[in-house]
Amino acid sequence: MFVVTGASSGIGRAVTVALAERDQSVLAVARDSAGLRELPANYPRVTALAADFLSDVGVSQVVEACASYPTVAGIVHAAGTLIEPQAFGSIDSDVLLDEMRVHVMAPIDLNQRLQTQLGRIVFLDSYSSNDLRVGWAAYSIVKAAAQMAARSAAEELVNVKVIRAFPGAVRTPLVDAVLKSPHDSPTRRTFRALQAEGKLSPPDEIGEWIAYLLLDTSDEELSARPTWQYGESF
Ligand SMILES: NC(=O)c1ccc[n+]([C@@H]2O[C@H](COP(=O)([O-])OP(=O)(O)OC[C@H]3O[C@@H](n4cnc5c(N)ncnc54)[C@H](OP(=O)(O)O)[C@@H]3O)[C@@H](O)[C@H]2O)c1
Repeated sequence: MFVVTGASSGIGRAVTVALAERDQSVLAVARDSAGLRELPANYPRVTALAADFLSDVGVSQVVEACASYPTVAGIVHAAGTLIEPQAFGSIDSDVLLDEMRVHVMAPIDLNQRLQTQLGRIVFLDSYSSNDLRVGWAAYSIVKAAAQMAARSAAEELVNVKVIRAFPGAVRTPLVDAVLKSPHDSPTRRTFRALQAEGKLSPPDEIGEWIAYLLLDTSDEELSARPTWQYGESF
């Protein structure tokens, strides 16, 4: 059984579908939305769980749903907020805290509380963690914190394989928010250029790649590489 968070949209939904199409059971987690509800209707091996990671209750709901399984083959942390592209001076610290809860704190809590059951953890890493996105600084700040949490887990959760996967730019609502941002910025220009060059990947390709990393790579291959980039390994 796999757990996929952020399963109602974008990369999380695509991973859920790719795993289900390979006959895997999936606990698909997001808040209550139409996108989540249609998954079990179309894929009988998918169970939907509505949980909100802005509260500890949401994390506990996932842990409780996993309690009846002796093992969880893997968890894919794909829950993410639509972090608004805005200048550094406009970042609202209360909003930033909510974004940290979803991108950073919920994955840390889930990794800690499920660690004795877990086989693999997928963290969706971003080049924005390493390089500041001017005009979208909050995203870089949040993803840098999330990356360090993933690197800590990789070092310290000795019985779990952590996969830091860089999907590149993927055409999801999160990236659409940048493309449609009313504020001109170097980041918006970069993403519009990628779009014009046809370099935004469709989510289903990334879903298949993540399923490949979870199902078709050995522990030895995972141990040999700290990160995986879409396009290089698939
Ligand atoms: N798209 C890219 O190019 C790209 C590149 C590198 C890394 N990533 C990372 O990949 C992850 C997924 O991104 P995406 O582009 O697929 O985003 P997305 O399409 O916006 O999906 C985000 C998912 O998170 C869920 N979510 C939002 N708030 C939540 C909350 N409070 N509690 C529980 N679930 C919540 C949403 O569902 P509900 O609204 O139904 O809860 C949705 O299913 C993010 O961590 C992102 O940083 C994306």
